[in-house]
Amino acid sequence: MRIIAVSSQKGGSGKTTITGHLAVEAARQSGGPVALVDTDPQGSLSDWWNEREADDPAFAQATMATLDADLAGLREQGFRTVFIDTPPAITGAIQTVVVKSDLVIIPTRPSPHDLRAAGKTVELVERAGKPLVFVVNGATARARLTGEAAIALSQHGTVAPTILHNRQDFAASMIDGRTVMEANPSGRSATEVESLWAYIAERIKRLPVKAQFKSLPTSRAGFGNRPQGPVGAAVHPAAL
Ligand SMILES: Nc1ncnc2c1ncn2[C@@H]1O[C@H](COP(=O)(O)OP(=O)(O)O)[C@@H](O)[C@H]1O
Ligand SMILES: [Mg+2]
Repeated sequence: MRIIAVSSQKGGSGKTTITGHLAVEAARQSGGPVALVDTDPQGSLSDWWNEREADDPAFAQATMATLDADLAGLREQGFRTVFIDTPPAITGAIQTVVVKSDLVIIPTRPSPHDLRAAGKTVELVERAGKPLVFVVNGATARARLTGEAAIALSQHGTVAPTILHNRQDFAASMIDGRTVMEANPSGRSATEVESLWAYIAERIKRLPVKAQFKSLPTSRAGFGNRPQGPVGAAVHPAAL
């Protein structure tokens, strides 16, 4: 089982959007079965998943305190790829997730503010000795700024060769529990997500294989089931 954390200390950089999109694409391609874990107390990813009609990828309830056991449970269940969405600006929480991950994706908008903020996330990931990949997200027609951002980031680590552009369908699809691949399969946004996942999948294949994590399955993690409660109600990680 491969664990991919999507982290950056900057809010609004696209963590939740990228987590949901890559998880759906991984499930459609070679990465399944896929589980999603939301560690952000704001619960945006779980809100999105609750809006979703499709049950794939699965949503696993987890808490920071029980993350080890929850991940062990997912491993026992045979999940192959797990994506963990993380909160912004809570270093301790991000660190807890990063140390358990095989790869850390750092979404970064091509703005000077985001680029400055990326440094802190990089330090944290490097201290944990984990491989990282930057994903430039929300690029606009100002190609020069995007190119400059990619060059600046490349000083600190690998930059994914696919850039996600700022498009309405990314924002709109997340509102109703979908992804751009489901809302607009032949659009340019869908093509970007497909090629981003193809790159990440290759990157994961090249990661060293480590010893299997040994732990008993846990009853805390719920797999593939809709969270309990009234139909359509969101279950926030903070409430677990
Ligand atoms: N590529 C994109 N194009 C358009 N809107 C985007 C894109 N990426 C993210 N957004 C929007 O930007 C906002 C922040 O994205 P989100 O994924 O929630 O960031 P984070 O989880 O890092 O706080 C959301 O409203 C989302 O819909
Ligand atoms: Mg988020």
